[in-house]
Amino acid sequence: MTSWSRLSFLALLVLQEIVLAKYVRTKRSTIAPVGAGGSDGTIFDQDFVDYGWTGWTPSPPHFCLEVLPELQAAGLVIPNEVLNDCDPGDITYITNATALQLDTSSYVGQVCAMKNCTAFVSVGDNFYDSGIDFTTGGIQRFQEAWVDMYNEGVFQTAPWYQCLGNHDVVKGQSGIDFQTQVAPIYDPRWNFGTQGLPYWTYDLTGKDWSATFVVVDSDCFLSSYQKNTSVYANSYTEACYADRQTQVDFLANAFAESTATWKFLQLHHPYMSSATNETELAPLVEIVIQHNGIVLNGHDHCLGHYYSNNTNFILSGAAGYPQAGDCNYGIPLGPYAMFLAANPMTAANGFVTMDISNQSINVEYYVRDMSFENGDLYPVMHDLNPSYSFQITQHAT
Ligand SMILES: *[C@@H]1O[C@H](CO)[C@@H](O)[C@H](O)[C@H]1NC(C)=O
Ligand SMILES: *[C@@H]1O[C@H](CO)[C@@H](O)[C@H](O)[C@H]1NC(C)=O
Ligand SMILES: *[C@@H]1O[C@H](CO)[C@@H](O)[C@H](O)[C@H]1NC(C)=O
Ligand SMILES: *[C@@H]1O[C@H](CO)[C@@H](O)[C@H](O)[C@H]1NC(C)=O
Ligand SMILES: *[C@@H]1O[C@H](CO)[C@@H](O)[C@H](O)[C@H]1NC(C)=O
Ligand SMILES: *[C@@H]1O[C@H](CO)[C@@H](O)[C@H](O)[C@H]1NC(C)=O
Repeated sequence: MTSWSRLSFLALLVLQEIVLAKYVRTKRSTIAPVGAGGSDGTIFDQDFVDYGWTGWTPSPPHFCLEVLPELQAAGLVIPNEVLNDCDPGDITYITNATALQLDTSSYVGQVCAMKNCTAFVSVGDNFYDSGIDFTTGGIQRFQEAWVDMYNEGVFQTAPWYQCLGNHDVVKGQSGIDFQTQVAPIYDPRWNFGTQGLPYWTYDLTGKDWSATFVVVDSDCFLSSYQKNTSVYANSYTEACYADRQTQVDFLANAFAESTATWKFLQLHHPYMSSATNETELAPLVEIVIQHNGIVLNGHDHCLGHYYSNNTNFILSGAAGYPQAGDCNYGIPLGPYAMFLAANPMTAANGFVTMDISNQSINVEYYVRDMSFENGDLYPVMHDLNPSYSFQITQHAT
């Protein structure tokens, strides 16, 4: 079916019981998401990280290994995109990531057929390695890596609710424009609000429940991305870092105005992590805490559940390129780590689903049995059953 190459930070929400999916506080209604018309009431939340590897061609080794260091030594300014596309880790892993992504996507297809997935929630890093911008190359990449990739079975009609990750901002404003303004018109399954902004909100509604999702661009909160040595430093991140209070206010207002049963903050970077707790996200998380909300994030290439500050943090990364270190090789760094799908060798591929009702959210972690010809990197006995699950019963306020 679909051929993802590397799913890393996309949350996938599959809704079985969505009666109505609509944007709130928008001006245009022409690109409202395809209503997911299940009958029973389940949300699937799947975090796909690094799902857009297809079509990424790294620069030739001669350039990355020999020419680039000489240019740097000579003091030439190297465009961020060019630097990023020489990332040695990503280049080394591209073959495996592509293969794993394929296996994981077929795994998702199997589970989704069983669970009637109806919507996908992204937590960013939509296109490797440097996003896509509003150029002919960007358009071709979007067609190849997304439109043509996700076009069978559940993917034919299920709406995706999108979010930006660090890989998406490398090319600056033109990359943001593509994902927020061009893509939603190009393909109606791609939802990114109607204002052309990197933050937005939408509501999903079931028979007897509703949920408000607020999406922000967490790239705007990290001071490390402001350093002139960062590949993420550009005029977009500089401006949105200076203006990050706007996104904090947007979240605060959206949650305050919402009377939904459940409230979600959907963003790329982790406030709680086994690798790096991004503490600069605290102003956002404080608002989530005030409203008994739930955090959906990515960035770490593994599946995890953290509970801290009376708040659930759902991490559903690693469809293609699992990174055991991101989940500390499966070893909890503290009682906040409730579940980590990793072992000393690898993190597992997989995704998370959410079944939502008025009474509870049933969160299930589907962890793929990663067997291959010579062995089994991550053995899971019955991988069509969830490896881990938990329930959320405390309503939002
Ligand atoms: C790719 O997968 C093969 C087979 O599992 C493994 O031997 C190899 O080390 C992997 N390559 C990388 C770069 O991880
Ligand atoms: C999925 O949908 C099919 C067909 O509508 C239905 O028979 C099945 O019971 C549903 N599965 C679940 C888990 O709701
Ligand atoms: C949802 O549950 C709450 C209490 O848990 C109840 O007050 C409310 O009426 C329910 N909503 C619907 C639409 O059934
Ligand atoms: C980056 O910033 C440092 C310190 O702020 C400065 O010394 C350096 O010249 C800058 N480099 C470039 C390439 O702008
Ligand atoms: C993240 O925060 C938790 C809870 O405060 C702490 O136990 C853990 O060590 C931190 N993780 C890292 C990687 O620093
Ligand atoms: C979460 O709890 C920790 C430890 O109790 C505290 O230091 C931190 O400020 C809290 N975070 C937020 C966003 O309130």
